Amino acid sequence: MCGIVAYVGEKNAYEILIKGLKRLEYRGYDSAGVAMISNNHEFLHYKCKGKVSNLEEHVGQQSVDAHIGIGHTRWATHGPANDVNAHPHLSGNEELALIHNGIIENYDVLKKELTSRGHNFVSDTDTEVLVHLIEEVKKQEDVGLFEAVRLALHQVTGAYAIVVIDKSNPRELIAAKKSSPLVIGMGEDDFFIGSDATPIVEYTNNVVYLEDGEIAHISLDTGLKIRKLDNKVITPTIQELQIQLEALEKGGYEHFMLKEIFEQPKTIKDCMRGRISAQKGHVSLGGILDYQDKILNARRMIIIACGTSWHAGLVGEYLLEDLARIPVEVEYASEFRYRNPVIYEDDVVLAISQSGETADTLAAIKLAKEKGATILGICNVVGSTISRETHAGSYTHAGPEIGVASTKAFTAQVTVLSLLALMLAKRKGTVEKSRLNRLLFELESIPDKVTEALKTDAACELISEIYKNSSNALYLGRGYSFPVALEGALKLKEISYIHAEGYPAAEMKHGPIALIDEEMPVFVVATKGPSYEKVISNIQEVKARKGKVIVISTKGDEYIKEMADHYIEIPETEEMFMPILATIPFQLLSYHMAVMRGCNVDQPRNLAKAVTVE
Ligand code: G6P
Repeated sequence: MCGIVAYVGEKNAYEILIKGLKRLEYRGYDSAGVAMISNNHEFLHYKCKGKVSNLEEHVGQQSVDAHIGIGHTRWATHGPANDVNAHPHLSGNEELALIHNGIIENYDVLKKELTSRGHNFVSDTDTEVLVHLIEEVKKQEDVGLFEAVRLALHQVTGAYAIVVIDKSNPRELIAAKKSSPLVIGMGEDDFFIGSDATPIVEYTNNVVYLEDGEIAHISLDTGLKIRKLDNKVITPTIQELQIQLEALEKGGYEHFMLKEIFEQPKTIKDCMRGRISAQKGHVSLGGILDYQDKILNARRMIIIACGTSWHAGLVGEYLLEDLARIPVEVEYASEFRYRNPVIYEDDVVLAISQSGETADTLAAIKLAKEKGATILGICNVVGSTISRETHAGSYTHAGPEIGVASTKAFTAQVTVLSLLALMLAKRKGTVEKSRLNRLLFELESIPDKVTEALKTDAACELISEIYKNSSNALYLGRGYSFPVALEGALKLKEISYIHAEGYPAAEMKHGPIALIDEEMPVFVVATKGPSYEKVISNIQEVKARKGKVIVISTKGDEYIKEMADHYIEIPETEEMFMPILATIPFQLLSYHMAVMRGCNVDQPRNLAKAVTVE
């Protein structure tokens, strides 16, 4: 959360910072700000509540001529979203400016100490305390900025990615990180910093990922130098970025979310490329191949994730138990890390994360690692922290996901989990060869079936028009479709602000049925499969209470059409791959309802794409 961008070089810093902040806005959008050093060594400091476009308006036509600067887009943790709490923050003597992503946990103690030394604070943020602390250390120890940052960070507990500038030195950026990501872009004769690579990719493909406990000294005179907090020198490793610039643009769609929904046939294909060949009876995930036996000999697998990734994890549980007969538990990372869980050395922990930066998931990984478990990962962002913290893993290859509501990342995660379950089933021999082959053929056909499922867009739009003013909605599914119901409800509430609940269809009668009346839309996954008859009974229960039933049904199912108030037909597939198809209309329904309600689809209120604070 919170987007960080910084630049030093010969180019116009303001343009780079604004463009970078727009690319990073999906990380947080409560307020934005920039601080640059002018040619006469003064800070050009602008910040305000709201989006980056507000900041641009605030700066207006003023000519901003600077070649070094830092920029920030905020997701509030300490203090409300307002002009004063926006970053960058200045030191008391107004010589230093700092941007920060993360949380300084002991900020209160530090603030009291600094206040007793005469520091005055204008904001409610933990970040302002940090820049005052650096100022204090710099003064007390009579050291340069790099050393002041290094010493100050020894006093800090919590998570941070920071960039600091000193107005007396317009050729130098200092950056440091712990538990929040930071990437340094190496230009020809300039340097970029981003909380991810999106603001950098336009200028250079060569990047250095800063590791926890490292501080970077970036100078136009001496280049990039990295040290650990204990002063040990680190040799930077330059890596090449794989992101294409077009992937960060809307490509003619009105919103990133819509573009990403429609990209799914391609992203699922990309995810499977080289990993499956039904013709050859081949299925393998290269990154996890060497760990197959470890998984098969494990006591159990524990899947940890948050949000939509947790829903993918639930589908994974069904797949892995069903096909590979491996006991699986699925945990919210935030609960797992704090509940003193029993973790054995022969457990395999599988972390699922789109961003690869979610703080709770990372902390859960660290805990499981300490207990000696084997840690695998499924991530979308290449080079992300989780992908580097795990012993092995697989990328989803869905490309950058910018819409805050996850869509293509979810279907790619489920695709990887399907491949994993099939690979393990093959190795273990838990699925008969002919059936395994049928499943491989079916999985290979899924991208085409997703293309078919996307044709429900017009029907979804019509249904959205009818239900867009609902206050509540219920989503029901059984078996593999239960996580789909959860995901459908999450999509609706996060972008349209309609209260929605996902439930296992049979559980409805233990509570939610009390909510059903003629005002309540009930979205049901009622595709052909083992629980079809049971779901029909659940639909009848809703109808008997005058609820409005919208079903996702298998193409050609005439029987259910009669029963439902509305139906959305998707292609037939094996039950276990149905989550990929059934989730498509739910994505489209929530998209259209949110647009019709005038909501900001790509940047829903209070949310952020990468939750790097716990
Ligand atoms: C945030 C995002 C969700 C995402 C969740 C987990 O809440 O808004 O879309 O599912 O974090 O993120 P991860 O990157 O770990 O999948």
